[in-house]
Amino acid sequence: MIAIDGPAGAGKSTVARAVARRLGFAYLDTGAMYRALTWLALDRGLDPSDGDALTALARTEEILLSPADSGLRVSIAGHDVTVEIRASGIGDHVSVVAAHPGVRMAMVDAQRRITGSGNWVADGRDVGTVVRPDAELKIFLVADLDVRAMRRHAELSADSMRELVDVRRDMEARDRLDSTREESPLHAADDAVVIDTTRMTIEEVVDDVVDRAAA
Ligand code: DC
Repeated sequence: MIAIDGPAGAGKSTVARAVARRLGFAYLDTGAMYRALTWLALDRGLDPSDGDALTALARTEEILLSPADSGLRVSIAGHDVTVEIRASGIGDHVSVVAAHPGVRMAMVDAQRRITGSGNWVADGRDVGTVVRPDAELKIFLVADLDVRAMRRHAELSADSMRELVDVRRDMEARDRLDSTREESPLHAADDAVVIDTTRMTIEEVVDDVVDRAAA
């Protein structure tokens, strides 16, 4: 079990996917699960800040993740939401959804079930601290806010293009929400290896993680 945590734009998903491919491990994107739940809540007209409603939704609707060429195919309640969950409308609400303790409990249960057997690389905010504190390798990726905002901006598709300053501002707000929430806030596990990716290429980070996994 390899846990890769850190703030948005530090390179988690790209690195986690590549490490999983190199090692022949399965890959779990825990953020995609919070995004899928947020999509369903908005689709059903629920208020993302309604903790009881969101917890009930998280408990009843199973999120399915299956490997695809471009990463993971994500579906919830019979809808394929792979593309929709990356839209900025989801990013605007997902931190609020992910802060509800009941939602987190349901997600953590599901993530433990999924990674219960086999070899996994999972990325998120609390994989090494809460979901799988027993992970054999814990990585915490960090990078300067400016660099993270530039990376996220470069990933945006033409139809969701926004100004770099807006991406940076939203990212800063999301970092603050994710790090200060009461329920499992974003922080590195005591036994995590912290890697600052600000001046590293993806390949360098992947090599570093694979070397540590092999050690
Ligand atoms: O990694 P991402 O941007 O897809 O994550 C989306 C949101 O979900 C982010 O605001 C933090 C939250 N999240 C979380 O609270 N715990 C996780 N394990 C993964 C994501």
